[in-house]
Amino acid sequence: MFPVFQPESPQAQAIYDLFVIVLVISGVILAIVSLLVIIAIWRGRAKATLPEQDFGSHKSEIFWLVGPTIVVIWITAISAKLVLTINAVPKVHLSEAEAGEPNITVTGHQWWWEVQHDDSGIVAANEIYIPVGKRLRVKLQSADVIHCFWVPQLARKMDVIPGHDNYIWLEANKPGTYQGRCAEFCGTQHAWMNFKVYALESDEYSKWETNAKKAAADPVRADALAGKQLFFAHTCVNCHTIEGTEAEATIGPDLTHIASRKEIGGGVLENSTANLKLWMKNPQAIKPGSKMPDFNFNDRQVDQLVAYLESLE
Ligand code: CUA
Repeated sequence: MFPVFQPESPQAQAIYDLFVIVLVISGVILAIVSLLVIIAIWRGRAKATLPEQDFGSHKSEIFWLVGPTIVVIWITAISAKLVLTINAVPKVHLSEAEAGEPNITVTGHQWWWEVQHDDSGIVAANEIYIPVGKRLRVKLQSADVIHCFWVPQLARKMDVIPGHDNYIWLEANKPGTYQGRCAEFCGTQHAWMNFKVYALESDEYSKWETNAKKAAADPVRADALAGKQLFFAHTCVNCHTIEGTEAEATIGPDLTHIASRKEIGGGVLENSTANLKLWMKNPQAIKPGSKMPDFNFNDRQVDQLVAYLESLE
């Protein structure tokens, strides 16, 4: 129910452990102070005279000064250790051998995520496929405004800032689907800037990789072919890329494997024939403010375009 309480990576586990330690320390302090207050109220209740006053006790002053100071220093130390151990160090602070290239570059756009796998050249949108148990260095950059990259079960939050690259580790202990969100208000559709991390066993991952590397095949069905012609007759090519065609723009999501995606529009709809049609009919009705305009396609054109998109597996 609360993914932050179900960590599934060493980094998220470390954050969770620190949270629990600080929660326990705070709980103990709260219990002691509450108890003392209750005792004081109990003992001092309904008395006509003031209780005996106690001034200038060096012993208790030292106790109340040194005790909390030790607790605060301890919490500071374990927090600092956590920050130093879980943070992906920016490349500039590493030697050339340590640095290497980032494994994945994620670019925040209003309102979707571009995912570039730097080792294989695969480009996707709003879905990050990773192999289980491998720590990946992710470079975060923004195409427009400040976003915030957050997968609660796997990693800390990290701001995505125009003109300033940030780095983060991404790793999952076990196979699964992990919800990610934009955690910084970035405009009208900030709430629909979701993404998912799919952690796969290595054989599943290679299967995914093999398919994702392929360029788009020409559609076979007549309606899909008609859809392709429509796609290239309109301004779709000014925003989207479809590998293997002349569509090479990067304003909007790469559509090379749109049919294999689970969701569309940054998570606003599941990827189904009916939903793709809804989206193509008028994206502004589904995601107002989205950069994709309403093309006023008629139902037949929508059917053909969706047939084409669904051929891109
Ligand atoms: Cu991007 Cu909020």
